[in-house]
Order: sequence, then C-alpha cells, then structure tokens
Amino acid sequence: MEIQEVFVLGAGFMGNGIAQVAAFSGYRVTMCDVSEERLEAGVQAIRSSLGKLLSKGRITDGQRDAALANINLTTRMEDAAGSDLVVEAVPEDPALKRSVFAELDRICPPHTILASNTSAIPISSLASATSRPEKVVGLHFFGPVPLMRLVEVISGLRTSEETMRVADEWARSLGKETVLVLKDHAGFVANRVNIPTNIEAVRMIEEGFAAPEEIDRATGGYEAGVGPMQIIDNAGLDVGYRAALAIYRDTLDPKFLPPPLLKRMVAAGLLGRKSGRGFYDYSTGKRESYFPAVRIGEPEEDRAARMQAVLNRLLLPAVLEAVAVVEAGVATPEDVDRASRLGFNLPFGQLEMADSLGLDTVLETAMALHRETGHPKFFPPPLLRRMVAAGLLGRKSGRGFHSYVE
Ligand SMILES: NC(=O)c1ccc[n+]([C@@H]2O[C@H](COP(=O)([O-])OP(=O)(O)OC[C@H]3O[C@@H](n4cnc5c(N)ncnc54)[C@H](O)[C@@H]3O)[C@@H](O)[C@H]2O)c1
Repeated sequence: MEIQEVFVLGAGFMGNGIAQVAAFSGYRVTMCDVSEERLEAGVQAIRSSLGKLLSKGRITDGQRDAALANINLTTRMEDAAGSDLVVEAVPEDPALKRSVFAELDRICPPHTILASNTSAIPISSLASATSRPEKVVGLHFFGPVPLMRLVEVISGLRTSEETMRVADEWARSLGKETVLVLKDHAGFVANRVNIPTNIEAVRMIEEGFAAPEEIDRATGGYEAGVGPMQIIDNAGLDVGYRAALAIYRDTLDPKFLPPPLLKRMVAAGLLGRKSGRGFYDYSTGKRESYFPAVRIGEPEEDRAARMQAVLNRLLLPAVLEAVAVVEAGVATPEDVDRASRLGFNLPFGQLEMADSLGLDTVLETAMALHRETGHPKFFPPPLLRRMVAAGLLGRKSGRGFHSYVE
C-alpha cells in the first residue's frame, strides 16, 4: 500500500511539525484543528521553521514553497475521508483520543491507517475504539519534529505486521530513523529506558546527596548539555513528571514514581528552560547553577567516592531498564541504543555502554547497589545474570548485547 494523502489531526507543537516534515517530503497533507485561529498559528509555526532552515542554507526557496503548497487546512474531520494515513496529535487525554479514533474510523475508508503520536496512552486502547485495530499504530515523534530524527513505531496488541511495515517505511521516507516497538509497552523505549535514571537523579538532589551540576558533570554530559538535569530542564519538568507518572500508573513499579521534589517544582512553576528556571536558572539567558552546593569543605577523597556513587546511581537504572526492555521482547538491542542516542542526544546507547564496561562489571555494580540500598530497582534482570554466566561479557569477550567479532 502506498501512502500519498496524509491527514494530521491537531495543528499544535507536534501536529504542525509532523505536517511540515510530511509536506516537505512530498506528501499531500491536510492539517486539521478545532478553529481557524489554531490552524493559522500552526501554519505560522511551519513558515517560521522553514524560514529558519532556509536562512541556515539547509533548504532552498523552491523546497520551502513546495512544502507550503502541499499543505491544506481544514476544521472538518470529515476531510480525512480521502486520506491513506491519519496521524493524530491532539492533547494527551485518553477520552478525547478514543473519541477521535472512533470518529476517524467512521469517516475513513477501510484501507486508511490510523496512527497516534501519543506519549503514553496504550495503542491497544485507542485501537479498541475502532473497527480496524490491525490498522492502528503508534508513530511517536520527538519534538521539535523537524530537528529530532527519532520516531518510535509502536505495535498495539492487534496491529498487523503490514501496518507496522507501512508506518515504518513512511516515517523513514521523512528522513527519520525509526525504532520498532514490538510490544505496547508503557513509555515505549526511549522514555522507558531513560526515565528511571532521570528520577534517580532528582532523588539524589532531594536527598541532598548531589547538586544538579555535580550530577551533570558526573555523567560527562555537562559541557555538551546532555546531563540528566539539563535534559529534564529542556524537555520541561511538567512533561517529565507526566511521562514518569503515566508509566508508574501502568506498571505500579516504584522506580517510575516521580519524587516529591519534582512534583513540588512543577507545582511551583519551576518547569525548566521554558519558564526560566528548573534545576538551573536561565533568567540571565545563560544556564546558571542556583541549587545550594551540598557538601562544603568535603575532603577530596570523600568527594571522589561520592561522585563514583552518583555515577553508579545514574548509569545503572537506565542500563538495567534497557536490559529489561530487550528481555521483554519490546525492542532489539540495536533499537534500544538508537532510541537513547537519537531521542536524548546521548553519545551512546546504554547497552553499548554496558558492553564496553563489561557485563560482569555492570552485574557486580548492580548487585553491590542492591545490597547497599536493598532497593529492587537495582536488582539485575535475569537476562543480565544469564549472559554473564554464559560468558557473554560484552566487548572484551567479543559478544554481549552486540557482536564485536570481525
Ligand atoms: N510536546 C512534546 O514534546 C511531545 C512529544 C511527543 C509526543 N507528544 C504528544 O503529542 C500530542 C500533541 O501534543 P502537543 O504538544 O502537540 O500539544 P498541543 O497542545 O501543542 O497541540 C494539540 C492541538 O490539538 C488541537 N485539538 C484539540 N482537540 C482537537 C480535535 N478534536 N480535533 C483537532 N484538533 C484538536 C488543539 O487545538 C491543539 O492545537 C500529545 O498526545 C502529546 O503527548 C508531545
């Protein structure tokens, strides 16, 4: 099946980004929202984004004009009747999304694929609002859509292989890299793997164990702007809070429970970069530390030991979750690593990192943290223990989660 006509429902931050990249890639796109004003704001955002790409020399005048000419606007959902693919990007409200899916199912011809850009609502629950669950799929873009290369393609329980294939090919035809999420797993892959580390980072601040800057420096991501606290500030503390809570509600696994500090900061309007303050202060236009230093006059060797503990508490949660995602058959090791690299701009994925450290070292560190804290979140998943027992230790043994044999 060939996709030609695309209907994007919702002209907000994600919807207008998806409409832009689809139109830029030559698809005829109809963007739909509830009012002319919302549509106008969406098109304005597209014009401005294309204008920036043009001024940076990344696209030509002709490409910008062709993209804009490919976009039609409507406030009528009935106009989805001619589409091959619908991408839904309305607000994250399960009742709203389910009613929209039921309506699209009534309007669209049988061949139309219905995709959702939901961050956390199970695809299977949206699919069950339609008479075509085999044609319902998740297409989880990352914002800003024109800049972020990752798209997670998510299978609901009843999504057909053909629908996954077509959705995957379409997303790649937009110049995106895709990660196939083979099970309808809360948080999909990128968020699922990285949220436990982000939460642990907030807990260390809450406990007074480390300051935001120490945490970002410990990971080596401070200068590049990809430390956990910077990632949370950039995405928005409210967004991180909601994403963690959604996974917690689905799994009741305490490692996803947002810490009280995060909740208080959201309530106080400290939402990160967009509100001028989060774990850093941006009100001067720069990123400045303002959380108090936690240990004044701390001897250097104590500090070094504390920083090693900070690093272990940051590395382990994401590594262990990445292993659990592979063990559950949700995604391949390659896709798990790609999700972290592209979704969070990390220099390498957690499984590549585990392979480099040595899976036996990772296992020992996890066991030690588990012994010290008694917390189940540090207990290594069976797959990691089995791999070490089998001598699959990563790079040094030629095989771990990836193969290093020439
Ligand atoms: N913001 C992000 O970084 C991000 C990242 C990945 C996924 N998502 C998901 O994408 C979806 C959209 O998020 P957003 O940030 O673009 O929200 P947004 O609020 O910017 O945009 C939502 C748009 O949907 C419109 N809308 C509401 N009801 C509608 C209806 N019945 N028909 C047509 N349009 C309707 C609204 O008027 C609004 O313009 C959510 O499910 C969100 O979880 C967001």
